[in-house]
Amino acid sequence: MPLVPMRQILDEAAKKGYGVPHFNVNNMEQAQAIMRGAEEVESPVIMAASKGALKYSDMLFLRNIMGACVERYPKIPIALHLDHGTSIDICKTAIDLGFSSVMMDGSLEEDGKTPRSYDDNIAVTREVVNFAHPLGITVEGELGCLGGIEDDIGSGEEKLTNPDQVKEFVEKTKVDALAVSIGTSHGAYKFKIQPDPDKNLLAMDIIRRIHELCPNLHMVMHGSSSVPQELIAQINQYGGNIKETYGVPLWAIKEGIDAGVRKVNVDTDLRLAVTATVRKVFHDSPEAFDPRKYLGPARDAMKTIIIERYNTFGSAGHAYDYEPKTLEDMKIFYEESELKSSE
Ligand code: G3H
Ligand code: 13P
Ligand code: ZN
Repeated sequence: MPLVPMRQILDEAAKKGYGVPHFNVNNMEQAQAIMRGAEEVESPVIMAASKGALKYSDMLFLRNIMGACVERYPKIPIALHLDHGTSIDICKTAIDLGFSSVMMDGSLEEDGKTPRSYDDNIAVTREVVNFAHPLGITVEGELGCLGGIEDDIGSGEEKLTNPDQVKEFVEKTKVDALAVSIGTSHGAYKFKIQPDPDKNLLAMDIIRRIHELCPNLHMVMHGSSSVPQELIAQINQYGGNIKETYGVPLWAIKEGIDAGVRKVNVDTDLRLAVTATVRKVFHDSPEAFDPRKYLGPARDAMKTIIIERYNTFGSAGHAYDYEPKTLEDMKIFYEESELKSSE
């Protein structure tokens, strides 16, 4: 303990108006960087595994690495989350593995590419909530489609979230959190020119409208890596070939958090940090061949980014604000809220 339900981490963030980074994890060094960063700045943690990460790691390995984080850092609230589940089965698998939260990304069909109809999205998301909530597990849904086709997820066709559908979607599915499409996209190639703080980069009006209509809904910004230019420069300086590209600036993420976003998904930035570091070590120390000599510095580079995100999104300093809830507590919470909504 404490493996906590993601819902509690987001409820607490909403009470105090901050955002919590969601970091994707594929291996031990990433998991350790996330936890070492969290311990240093006292932040709650949302650690997420995608379908691809589970496949890459043969599931058990990643499950046990994530489990080790919970064991090693018993005082930090940690939610283990499935990222972009596109089928009921994968959500069930994640719950069986011990995750405390799942994303049913019903915006896409099971192939993770074809957009799914609104009605089917409601049906499939509702089904996941129906078996997850009685177990105390948090559910994130998605309405609208993000642009970008990297990372095996996305149709390549952006469809911004329609705020007028959100209330009905949330009432019918009873999701705890909702990923919204406001102009971000997955992967490193988000914007071709440097974002201008004086121009509207993202559709913040959508966030504001949804917050007005559903003040208790936890909104999630996917595709929120900032693509640090110094990491791109370092990758290219040491033999890489990343074309000119810009990510979501931290000022835009802060605007989102101020408007009601509570979870901010970051994966690409950690990938860039690893690659930039490994390339530099290989260049500077061509004689090195011990993986610890490059994976260790890569872990430190990720930790630097991670700490910056905890600080900027505002979750730093909040790890010990509250008594962690158990999944048993959440079962009761959901039973009571079901009763209230059917009264
Ligand atoms: O949203 C997608 C994440 O960046 C996960 O990417 O499917 O390559 O693990 P992945
Ligand atoms: P990035 O590719 O911007 O890191 O987005 C990650 C994400 O949305 C994971 O769900
Ligand atoms: Zn995503």
